[in-house]
Amino acid sequence: MKPRKTTCAHRGVTAQCHTTASVTQRAFLDSTQCVLHDASVLRFLTAGESHGPALSVVVEGLPAGVPIEREAIDADLRRRQGGYGRGGRMQIEKDSVEVLSGVRHGRTLGSPVAFLIRNKDHENWKDVMATEPQPDAARERRRLKYPRPGHADLAGALKYGTDDLRNVLERASARETTARVAAGALAKALLREVGTQIRSHVVRIGGASAEGAGIAWESLADVDQSPVRCADARAALAMVAEIDRAKKDGDSVGGVVEVVARGVPAGLGAFAQWDRRLDGRIAQALMSIHAVKAVAIGAGFEAGETRGASFHDEILWDAERGIARPTNRAGGLEGGITNGEEIRARAVVKPIPTLLLALRSVDLRSKEPQKASVERSDTCVVPAAGVVAEAMLALVLGDALLEKTGGDSLAELVSHLEATRAQQRELAGPR
Ligand SMILES: Cc1cc2nc3c(=O)[nH]c(=O)nc-3n(C[C@H](O)[C@H](O)[C@H](O)COP(=O)(O)O)c2cc1C
Repeated sequence: MKPRKTTCAHRGVTAQCHTTASVTQRAFLDSTQCVLHDASVLRFLTAGESHGPALSVVVEGLPAGVPIEREAIDADLRRRQGGYGRGGRMQIEKDSVEVLSGVRHGRTLGSPVAFLIRNKDHENWKDVMATEPQPDAARERRRLKYPRPGHADLAGALKYGTDDLRNVLERASARETTARVAAGALAKALLREVGTQIRSHVVRIGGASAEGAGIAWESLADVDQSPVRCADARAALAMVAEIDRAKKDGDSVGGVVEVVARGVPAGLGAFAQWDRRLDGRIAQALMSIHAVKAVAIGAGFEAGETRGASFHDEILWDAERGIARPTNRAGGLEGGITNGEEIRARAVVKPIPTLLLALRSVDLRSKEPQKASVERSDTCVVPAAGVVAEAMLALVLGDALLEKTGGDSLAELVSHLEATRAQQRELAGPR
């Protein structure tokens, strides 16, 4: 039983919750206050295997009236499939959503939105991935015997007690990020309505890195024109060369992406409890992306090398602009709350683990040493990871926005936000 989103905007059990609850329910609400209210307002669940018939995703909590364009969702799916260094699977899949519910005549209804994204490659895997029992030959044909270091293969085998690694890798695969990108496109559509936009770019691939730290928002507008989604053309060439070298060696290469959100309302998130801090929620969302091994907000790891006076972003005021910050090393978050500056977060993506240059592994049945199994694979997924990072940031920000404003319709949300913004202008705006 989850309180209506309008009643949990301030994350307390409200009078409405209690007055409408029975005595038993009331005791339950009192004892589980945190659990009930820590549920996200905007949430999503994905399902589907890499070579199953389809991926699906249900997004719940969007207000009614958000304009949704299927083409915009598909455009993000295409961006996820691109980037120099992707492998053969991307030639087969031409991802596109089928909208099953929650949208009517181009706008959300306030009910759960469900999408289906078909796996075209499933045609070649029908018996291997069949839900009905099949002859042993179907299982054996694509059985993965030798766990690949760096994948979920071994840990998943130990978790589920199986030596058929196909059962692990099908869901552990980053194919799942397709569904996240579709869900994220909905959150982006919501955010767009309040003036918040999200972009991402590649900062590093292997030894090749883009110039400087704070690449300006404007320079990110055409980043999709770059084969590696890098705003620095010279660095992009070096990145392509890194990928070519890794591919030639049968190896893979990782890197760093930055995701940037502009026009984020100030005051999203909270410092009152550890799990409400928005920096923590963003870090968790980015870290949950397959192959991401580190996340930094703003200047991140540099904070450990710098003294306070040269690290923190000073607070200035002038009559024309109101409060202004000359720098943004905090990456738009102070005390776990958005401060109105751009949100900037970086994610480190490890070199993907499926390698032609197979690493040492073991046959889980015979225990004999073997080279790790090789599945068709990419060489570098850093540019694609940026698109997934956009989706995850959009979902976290959409959730934090709804938590702040409530609102069952977009109009209600916007009017609540306007009231907040008026209050903020009074406090920190120009005179
Ligand atoms: C968009 C995307 C595509 C990926 N494609 C591949 C791939 O083709 N081959 C591979 O070995 N790993 C690929 N990965 C990485 C693996 O999914 C990841 O290494 C694996 O889930 C284990 O990493 P973890 O320990 O961080 O979960 C991809 C990751 C992302 C984000």
